Amino acid sequence: MNKLIENIDFLSPADTVANESIRISLDQNTGKSRKLYIESYGCQMNFSDSEIVASILQKEGFDTTSDINQADLVFLNTCSIREKAEQTVRHRLTHINGLKKKKPALVVGVLGCMAERLKTKLLEEEKIVDLVAGPDAYRDLPQLIGQVDEGDKAVNTFLSREETYADISPVRLNSNGVSAFISIMRGCDNMCSFCVVPFTRGRERSRDPQSIVEEASDLFNRGFREVTLLGQNVDSYKWSEVENNKARLEKKEVDSIVNFANLLELVAKINPDLRVRFSTSHPKDITDEVLYTIARYENICDYIHLPVQSGNSRILEMMNRGYTREWYLKRVAKIREILGDDCGLSSDMITGFCSENEEEHQDTLSLMELVGYDYSYMFHYSERPGTLAAKKFPDDVPLEVKKRRLDEIIKMQSRLSLSRNLLDIGKIQKVLVEGTSKKSTDHLQGRNSANKVVVFPGGNKKKGEYVHVLIESCTGGTLIGKQV
Ligand code: SAH
Ligand code: SF4
Ligand code: F3S
Repeated sequence: MNKLIENIDFLSPADTVANESIRISLDQNTGKSRKLYIESYGCQMNFSDSEIVASILQKEGFDTTSDINQADLVFLNTCSIREKAEQTVRHRLTHINGLKKKKPALVVGVLGCMAERLKTKLLEEEKIVDLVAGPDAYRDLPQLIGQVDEGDKAVNTFLSREETYADISPVRLNSNGVSAFISIMRGCDNMCSFCVVPFTRGRERSRDPQSIVEEASDLFNRGFREVTLLGQNVDSYKWSEVENNKARLEKKEVDSIVNFANLLELVAKINPDLRVRFSTSHPKDITDEVLYTIARYENICDYIHLPVQSGNSRILEMMNRGYTREWYLKRVAKIREILGDDCGLSSDMITGFCSENEEEHQDTLSLMELVGYDYSYMFHYSERPGTLAAKKFPDDVPLEVKKRRLDEIIKMQSRLSLSRNLLDIGKIQKVLVEGTSKKSTDHLQGRNSANKVVVFPGGNKKKGEYVHVLIESCTGGTLIGKQV
């Protein structure tokens, strides 16, 4: 699998929210007449959307292929989070242009966030694109493809307030057969000033909890042992039976509301052997109820991705994050109090946001050290057209300064990751086996509850099984041990 990661010299153990990596679909051979090649960029939610797209098109006579040369239909499911993400897609389109010259019947579609951001402009700017579909328009793809087959260009970038694709069972394109991702909500209402997501993904909406539990149960019955519940801000998950089924229920006395803590519990109860993870938690919304729910269920993993973005309160205010440095540190203290020191914590960080000075950057470094993150995704600020920051604040930190600061936080994180891993030596940890180690076929690889990769000599264990491992040594990215 190809990975293009911007500015990061190591990958998260989870790889759950990695931006700007790319994923290519696998080969399906169910004898369909046309072949779909789909390449996905951006976050895990986008990767999951590609699985919904594959599912919709499977019913329309398309098998997926991992070989772009075999394809009748090429889809790029794109990301707009930073300028670089969009540039990558434009380069890719230039390459695909070469293919289309050899095969004029090839249909080229751009899906996802860049499609939503640029809409019909994409057709003007990138002549080879036949089809543009935003994240809420995938049910319309068969119709849009039909339009292209008739010789027209096709665009649907309508954003919905209801679409959650709840009834579509995704074709698992990138799965190891052990862990899978389930989208529990779409969109974002937060309006962090640097962020393009509210514009590309639209309003926040939660998916019917029953359909989530059904999808997770089905995965468990098919041998999966871990699900990760996905949303831009999972802690604001909220389903109200009355609001969502007004027509069906008419006037009901009691409004039954399912919040994120309730949902976690529902999924955890499916089976104690099904691990439950989730991402992303917004520091302003994660409740004590969620933390106590994690503590109550052994199978809800002790790992929280809690992006801070900056360690300085003035910058956080400009970012419109809704918390201060002190408030964030208090939340971390609460996590440690309820879930203990072994709970994995990771973050996202942006360096060189508008007007950030050296002292404020130092605040980010000192906060990282105070929290002791196990891992971070780190970026330098990239101004996105149309965002609040682009409208209100000049992008005035020079690129070299942004990059130098980024370098400093990456170095800090490497040191923290190693020191956090060293603390695990001598401990016995429960590991879910995901397969053989990338480096040695005699070794198996899996994750502990805190989401760290653990490698150990395989013995007779298979993927999907739980193993207790005594941690004996480590690197910054991996724990190494033996079965006990
Ligand atoms: N919903 C998640 C973030 C999704 S985007 C949250 O609130 O934490 C993933 C990460 O990309 C963000 O956390 C942020 O660190 C980074 N990011 C978003 N917009 C960016 C921009 N304009 N420039 C640089 N990094 C950005
Ligand atoms: Fe973007 Fe903020 Fe929403 Fe995350 S919470 S997707 S950073 S607007
Ligand atoms: Fe990128 Fe859209 Fe995800 S902008 S990070 S693909 S929500």
